Amino acid sequence: MNSNELKKSVAMAVLDYIHPGEIIGIGTGSTVYYFIKALSTVKNLIRGAISSSNSSTFFLKKYGIPVYNLNDMKSLTLYIDSADEINFKLQMIKGGGAALTNEKIIASVAKEFICIADESKLVQVLGEFPLPVEIIPMATSCVLNKLKMLGGKPKVRKNVITDNGNIIIDIYNFKISDPIAMEKKINSFPGVVSVGLFAIRKADVALISTASGIKKITR
Ligand code: A5P
Repeated sequence: MNSNELKKSVAMAVLDYIHPGEIIGIGTGSTVYYFIKALSTVKNLIRGAISSSNSSTFFLKKYGIPVYNLNDMKSLTLYIDSADEINFKLQMIKGGGAALTNEKIIASVAKEFICIADESKLVQVLGEFPLPVEIIPMATSCVLNKLKMLGGKPKVRKNVITDNGNIIIDIYNFKISDPIAMEKKINSFPGVVSVGLFAIRKADVALISTASGIKKITR
């Protein structure tokens, strides 16, 4: 199975975790794209979605799934998204698709976060994938300087403006031994909107797609 087939397979598998008729939170990225397609194959499985990005909103509408506003929700049972990396504690790096802030907001509200990913995303230590940080544009050089002090190699992501009008810095060569402490540290820098470490609000369940089937990891 190639990577796309693994993504499609886990995108189908997570349908079994959805309570019919609900509004659910939906992430961003290629795995989520397959999930949105999978959702559209089961008529009225969900009542609608809270979308984490303009691109997911586009695909949800394209496949006839109503999109709701998070501010109109009293509560949210479920959030389904992928990750750029996930460890065995279900902590993640996200934001390769630049939607980390909206993803973090929805994840923080949802009672349950299910991460769907192919096995290439499962790691022992987070940080092989460059860690995205969304920042207010005027804070670019001061945040770059602060991030350099942490040890990695931060670089502004070229030609990318987030859905919130901000920029992304990716931190390369940055092995993260204590994800919770690092998330708190980077969050404390003025100008940082959010960091793509999901360690404080991590996933509750991970469905990992492998050549020999779907593996489930729980807390
Ligand atoms: C989007 O901002 C990211 O958090 C994605 O969830 C993550 O990059 C995974 O994307 P793929 O499914 O495309 O690998």
